[in-house]
Amino acid sequence: MPILSLAQFEPRLGEEERNFDYIKTIVENDNSDILCFPELATSGYFFKDKNELASLAMEADSDGICELQEFSTELNKIIVLGFPELDGQEIYNSVAILMPRKSQSSIYRKTHLFSKERNIFSEGNTGFFNTYSEEFDINIGLMICYDWRFPEAARTLALGGADLILCPSNLVTGVWDSVMSARALENKVYIGVANRIGKEKQDDEELVFNGSSAIYDYNGKHLTSAGAENEIIISAEIFPEKTRDKSFNSINNIFSDRRPDYYFRKS
Ligand code: ACM
Repeated sequence: MPILSLAQFEPRLGEEERNFDYIKTIVENDNSDILCFPELATSGYFFKDKNELASLAMEADSDGICELQEFSTELNKIIVLGFPELDGQEIYNSVAILMPRKSQSSIYRKTHLFSKERNIFSEGNTGFFNTYSEEFDINIGLMICYDWRFPEAARTLALGGADLILCPSNLVTGVWDSVMSARALENKVYIGVANRIGKEKQDDEELVFNGSSAIYDYNGKHLTSAGAENEIIISAEIFPEKTRDKSFNSINNIFSDRRPDYYFRKS
């Protein structure tokens, strides 16, 4: 069964080359099948303005992403990482899922922009989707950080067949842990939150990223979690087929028991 690893680290704002080197070293030395890095892992997070963001944004087929794609193919490893994606005039807060078979790789663009991200990023337009890997018989859904506040995100992915939801993050609050556990339980899916650590400052505003990356099983239980301040790789074995029967007793099934006709008040 596939081994999932989350790489919790401190991307340095503006140090793209250093961040890429760090990511590549982890990729080369890691033995897992699915390896996930935080949101905006290549660039850092707290940009002064759109110009600073633009100087760090890269196209989805830039050299750095292509090099990681080659690692994915050579090492037969699924690599997931956040980066600021340049597409024409737009810059998205994106996550690449790089599949060993390049034709299956794709990009998710963050749907729900958090706080000042709204001033500099374009709103994501990919929607929520899953990517299936034959090699590991796993269907992986993506969301990014603040998307967690919207239960529709995990629900949409789960209804679409996700076995595992990966959530690359730059979380600055401490309130998400119990929610992620609930999202895993109510959708009967695994969830991996790859958060970053460290601090970034602009003028007199400081953001403290609180680590604590975690992998939850389909009952919402922590399989493993990281500390709040250390660079670490955490790993767990994933059993995708266990997420596919949505029954939790001999009568109830969380998907077929749904009554969507009653979820919106009719006017
Ligand atoms: C966040 O969405 N980076 C909090």
